[in-house]
Amino acid sequence: MTIDRAAADKLLTTTRSVRKRLDLTRPVEPELIQECLEIAMQAPTGTNAQNWSFMVITDQAKRSAIADFYRQGTAIMSGSGYPPPLEDGDPREHVMPKVMESAGYLGEILDQVPVFVLALVKGRVENVPMLIAQASTYGSILPAAWSFMLAARARGLGTAWTTIHLFFETQVAELLGIPADWTQAVLFPVAYYTGDDFKPAHRLAPEQMIHWDSWGDHH
Ligand SMILES: Cc1cc2nc3c(=O)[nH]c(=O)nc-3n(C[C@H](O)[C@H](O)[C@H](O)COP(=O)(O)O)c2cc1C
Repeated sequence: MTIDRAAADKLLTTTRSVRKRLDLTRPVEPELIQECLEIAMQAPTGTNAQNWSFMVITDQAKRSAIADFYRQGTAIMSGSGYPPPLEDGDPREHVMPKVMESAGYLGEILDQVPVFVLALVKGRVENVPMLIAQASTYGSILPAAWSFMLAARARGLGTAWTTIHLFFETQVAELLGIPADWTQAVLFPVAYYTGDDFKPAHRLAPEQMIHWDSWGDHH
């Protein structure tokens, strides 16, 4: 079968972080989550290690506890200087307040999002001094995580890539019984999205980001 390129490009360019358009009233079928995760596990891993795990969290008490950690994380982050303030004239200056507001809003409704998916990888970057091992650790879960978002979007499910709860990674590990040698990479709240379409995002100018043969050489 040839790939329907228009459909593939549409999926790749319109898979957004969905926060305000999550349908909090519609349950998500467990089979759909299972399907998305099986697709996600077609992603590459370093040395084909497949050292990934995915926790699907539907239990209300656990979701509420994680949502609470997310909110506490948001509060810590806003006073932490991370991410560093944008320089004057940074083209992201206008969208950043919206992103932060939207990420904060997600915290407010997080308890009500019906499913959380937590993607994990075996290993801890702080224990491996070699850059290649660090790259392999995160590099063996992030492609699968993005595939999960794409597969979800193709099924009418909205997700947002989130990491704010990681201020409390240890506490979340304890809550869910995660062994100490596993790293939590990303937490996805998952729900059906409302409305039927998303737009490609405005991104920084690609010509400044793409270098041909020598750093700074742009086509
Ligand atoms: C590594 C990483 C961490 C992120 N953490 C959060 C988060 O904790 N909360 C949140 O609401 N969004 C989070 N995001 C989503 C970004 O804010 C979002 O991808 C960005 O603003 C671009 O918007 P788009 O995904 O709709 O294109 C994260 C994204 C990435 C890649």
